[in-house]
Amino acid sequence: MGSEPKLSVLFTRDEIEATVNRLAAEIRRDYLTKHPILIAVLKGSFMFLADLIRRLDFPLEVEFVRLSSYGRGKESSGKIKLAQRPQAKVKGRHVLVIEDIIDTGLTAGFLLDYLGKKKPASLKLCVLTDKPARRQTPVNIDYRGLTVPDKFIVGYGLDWDERFRHLPDIYVMENEG
Ligand code: PRP
Repeated sequence: MGSEPKLSVLFTRDEIEATVNRLAAEIRRDYLTKHPILIAVLKGSFMFLADLIRRLDFPLEVEFVRLSSYGRGKESSGKIKLAQRPQAKVKGRHVLVIEDIIDTGLTAGFLLDYLGKKKPASLKLCVLTDKPARRQTPVNIDYRGLTVPDKFIVGYGLDWDERFRHLPDIYVMENEG
């Protein structure tokens, strides 16, 4: 057994809250009368979605999709599968994808490509954390929260091997235990 991973705070809950408030204001301005579908990518985005939509005081729908990119470790396998599709029809609808992190960009690229083929009225991406140093494919981020360094981060929905999602702050994981 290795030692416990060492976590150091990168963004406090107050910084996250301020970021979510800013993003919600931007989204409200753009979607107030559009009755959008927010499509959140499981599992990591659940906490961000929950906080974000509580700040959106206009009609909207929520859908979830599940994709797989990372295995049990820290590196992306590069292979994306759509394990759970949205239930609602997206054709002709204003669709906003909600992600916790853009790393290589492969997951978001795959999902935006898939949804784009369904002919939504509009298709945009909202991301809490962006790790541009690791990008393998360009991704157009319409609503960007926090830019993060090329470090492994956990907390506020983000996991390492299914651990640490529940933490209210975002941490850098310094070692793997
Ligand atoms: C994470 C994250 C994104 C994706 C980003 O999901 O939620 O969906 O990886 O990585 P990429 O830009 O390199 O594709 P993960 O596969 O870890 O699943 P989880 O959200 O269920 O933890």
